[in-house]
Amino acid sequence: MNEITVKPLTPALGAAFLRFFDHERGTAFADNPEWAKCYCHFYEVPRVIEWETLTASQNRTAMQARIEVGAMDGFLALDGADVVGWLNAQPRDALPHCFDRMRIEPTPLPCEAFEAAVVVCFVVAPQRRRQGIAGVLLAGALASFAARGIKLVDAFPFKSGASELAADHYHGSLSLFLDQGFTVLREDETMTAVRKILR
Ligand SMILES: CC(C)(COP(=O)(O)OP(=O)(O)OC[C@H]1O[C@@H](n2cnc3c(N)ncnc32)[C@H](O)[C@@H]1OP(=O)(O)O)[C@@H](O)C(=O)NCCC(=O)NCCS
Repeated sequence: MNEITVKPLTPALGAAFLRFFDHERGTAFADNPEWAKCYCHFYEVPRVIEWETLTASQNRTAMQARIEVGAMDGFLALDGADVVGWLNAQPRDALPHCFDRMRIEPTPLPCEAFEAAVVVCFVVAPQRRRQGIAGVLLAGALASFAARGIKLVDAFPFKSGASELAADHYHGSLSLFLDQGFTVLREDETMTAVRKILR
């Protein structure tokens, strides 16, 4: 594998983010066009807005607007100038609708919401999967959060059983988090809540 660098999403990387997700030209959903409309907007949207009513173009515009004003956090995996992966992981106050969208109770916090982070979605380019890129993205995100003074990070791997379907692991696999020092916080019906204390 070429060296992969992980960069926090910034307005300057907005065009690269959008290219990764654009259905016709992007690579993110080359194997799963059904989900291509997402642009990773799903967890940003309150549940009173029905996800099915939003189009690809609306999701794209909403994400572009968020990125342009610096209101969207997250991490890009880059191979040179090519985006090969994306991780939506943000301080918890920046993802106020994510628990409602996941349909689980918020995990308890021993600190302020802005001092905690949540990991929600991964996407790695289909031709680059099973090469450790999700692991590199997670390690990059943890280092960045630690440097910013974030105290803990929560994640919610799906209980996907023995499924090898890439889409079934879009929150990251349980082993991915355990390998990087997370421990199990709570078992929900469809996912396991895991936490890593950073300080
Ligand atoms: C899930 C996903 C992010 C994993 O990325 P990746 O770079 O291939 O993951 P890694 O190579 O770092 O693997 C880490 C671990 O995750 C698990 N894993 C990854 N892909 C898996 C799969 N298809 N099935 C089962 N476990 C899997 C394994 O435990 C793996 O460790 P191993 O390779 O040593 O067995 C990738 O498959 C993907 O992008 N899937 C589509 C996600 C998606 O649809 N997102 C959009 C939501 S709208």
